[in-house]
Amino acid sequence: MKVCIIGGTGYVGSYIIDSLINAGHSANILVRSGSKEKLREHNSITAIPGDVSDQHALDNCHANCDALIYLIGILREDPAKGITFKKLQTEGFKNCLASAKKHGIKRVILMSANGVEAQTVAYQKSKYAAEDLLRKSDVNWTIFRPGLIFGDPRGRMEFCGTLLNELVSPPIPAAVFFNNLNIFSAGDQMVAPVFVEDVADAFVNALEHESTYSHTYPLTGPVTLSWKETIRHIARVAGKPNKLFMPAPAWGVKFVAGIFDRFPWFPITRDQVTILMQGNTATDHSAFSILGIRPTGFDEKQLTYLTNKN
Ligand SMILES: NC(=O)c1ccc[n+]([C@@H]2O[C@H](COP(=O)([O-])OP(=O)(O)OC[C@H]3O[C@@H](n4cnc5c(N)ncnc54)[C@H](OP(=O)(O)O)[C@@H]3O)[C@@H](O)[C@H]2O)c1
Repeated sequence: MKVCIIGGTGYVGSYIIDSLINAGHSANILVRSGSKEKLREHNSITAIPGDVSDQHALDNCHANCDALIYLIGILREDPAKGITFKKLQTEGFKNCLASAKKHGIKRVILMSANGVEAQTVAYQKSKYAAEDLLRKSDVNWTIFRPGLIFGDPRGRMEFCGTLLNELVSPPIPAAVFFNNLNIFSAGDQMVAPVFVEDVADAFVNALEHESTYSHTYPLTGPVTLSWKETIRHIARVAGKPNKLFMPAPAWGVKFVAGIFDRFPWFPITRDQVTILMQGNTATDHSAFSILGIRPTGFDEKQLTYLTNKN
């Protein structure tokens, strides 16, 4: 199968491409200006230069393909540069779906995110709007909603590396958030991190798996733990087993983030605090079993990439 991948130059995309090639498929990858060096060498992939708003580039990327995988996602908007959730997570997908239809592509898999049904913040609303477009289309669709994804970031951003840099490494207690006045609940939000290679295999195995058509699946890992325990794991791997915690009220952090999160140097956005406070787990684990994947647990053995220097 030849697959058109939009967003393939990112962290998860790099693993999806590896899995795709291992399974004997080939791919056209849309690559925007300045991102070509992010693609790993593979004989069976073709880089198509262009942006997701460039219909001509999209048509080149979809030509002669059998399936579309859409992965573009951002964590922070920059409206002055035209970077918005709506543009990249809804309209970009709409453009691709139109191009896919023009080229007779019948199979489409969309990367969404766990919790988007809550639709409380712009990130979630724009992903949900893309889901809606796909559900109403006449293609054979599958939507995956991963939780927090962990695994070697290959030089990109990944949540454990971010926690290491921003909370564990600095010589001050790690901030953990609580709702209302419930200080003893700080860092109690539950998460079930999912391994990046399992997410990649789910996308690739689903391509030809008809029973996944017309389904929306959460993808979370087999280990559920609190945010505080997650940070403790990372701290132990980093040789800081006695890392202290500092409870912080979520409303206070949101207030400060509301002022500063337009600046890239501010570590967290207001919307990210809202999402973090929702927790990130799921009860439906059917996708991995249907697709023949035994998901990898989140434990310290799996986190050694955090301390590898290359
Ligand atoms: N990582 C997680 O924990 C996680 C969890 C749940 C869901 N997801 C979803 O998974 C998807 C991939 O995430 P990721 O971690 O791989 O993200 P990533 O490494 O930041 O990759 C994002 C992809 O989107 C492209 N992109 C970003 N800004 C763009 C722009 N302004 N115009 C055009 N393309 C742009 C990037 O292209 P460039 O390489 O050119 O920048 C890259 O190909 C996203 O949809 C994300 O919401 C991720």
